[in-house]
Amino acid sequence: MEKLSRYQQLIDARIERTLFEGKPASLYDPLNYLMGLGGKRLRPMLTLIACDMMHGDINKALPPALGLEVFHNYTLMHDDIMDQAPLRRGQATVHEKWNTPTAILAGDLMLVKAYESLMKSEGIARIKILELFNKTATEICEGQQFDMEFESMDEVAVEDYLKMIELKTAVLLGCSLKVGALVAEAPESDADLLYDFGIYTGIGFQLMDDILDVFGDTEKVGKQVAGDIISDKKTFLLLEAFRLANDAQRAELNKWIGNPKAEPSEKVTAVKAIYDELGIQDIARAKADEYFKKADRLLEAVNVEEARKKNLRDYAVFLKNRIS
Ligand code: IPE
Ligand code: IPE
Ligand code: MG
Ligand code: MG
Ligand code: MG
Repeated sequence: MEKLSRYQQLIDARIERTLFEGKPASLYDPLNYLMGLGGKRLRPMLTLIACDMMHGDINKALPPALGLEVFHNYTLMHDDIMDQAPLRRGQATVHEKWNTPTAILAGDLMLVKAYESLMKSEGIARIKILELFNKTATEICEGQQFDMEFESMDEVAVEDYLKMIELKTAVLLGCSLKVGALVAEAPESDADLLYDFGIYTGIGFQLMDDILDVFGDTEKVGKQVAGDIISDKKTFLLLEAFRLANDAQRAELNKWIGNPKAEPSEKVTAVKAIYDELGIQDIARAKADEYFKKADRLLEAVNVEEARKKNLRDYAVFLKNRIS
């Protein structure tokens, strides 16, 4: 764990001294605000862990790692507009604190700032990193659009949900790990295994995010409680509830989901009650565990000594057990 806290310190220090400056202040302030609210910084953590594991120089991995965190924060700024979310990391979202046009533009600027940082990757890794990043960012847009489209669809297959979360969330974890491997100039086969490890871990991670959205400790999660229920998100929890419901429960779910007149807090209470009756939280956790296990099996195939894999294993356990 020592190394993990060292990576975390390096990342925090780098972020702290990265102030976005320019005029008008109302454009730049939201960037510093959101970055300053913290978060787990897990994407840059994955980059540093992978780089070190594959014998790379983590100082060279820091600029692209920072770029990935800036990019992640940009996706959150726009995601919160799309999801009409009032809270992020326990504070007002950017579009609430400023306004939506500002959050759109500050987000656009943040994407550019992410590129500036990614461009600072060195040597032959740079072009590969940028290519991978472009593919990843494209897929995230696709995933986010599917996520939005599913809100108004009555029937979504679990496979389509899983593909959607792979696109919106998992690819960035895969990318973060592979960027670390690319900086280390690791063999392509190992870099790809780490990418796939990130995909499985990312799917588990988003399943956990969907669980925490409903069942998490509000203070720790820092987001509106059950925002996913309020906005009819077709999460694994809801899809499983529909699949397992008896006739009465299905009728109750249909009364609330997709009903624009539903009172939000009554809707949350009613849907949550059905989740509890059906044991949905445990089912979703088991599904997330399945993916964390799949990821772990892939790690076995990476061609470095077992001892070098420990940091990534430990970090995956932290992600699996996270409460925020
Ligand atoms: C939130 O990401 C968005 C998802 C992809 C689920 P994180 O849970 O990594 O958020 P922070 O950065 O730690 O706040
Ligand atoms: C967000 O998924 C994924 C991206 C930002 C690309 P969510 O909408 O579930 O994330 P939270 O719950 O708002 O953090
Ligand atoms: Mg969203
Ligand atoms: Mg959201
Ligand atoms: Mg969520």
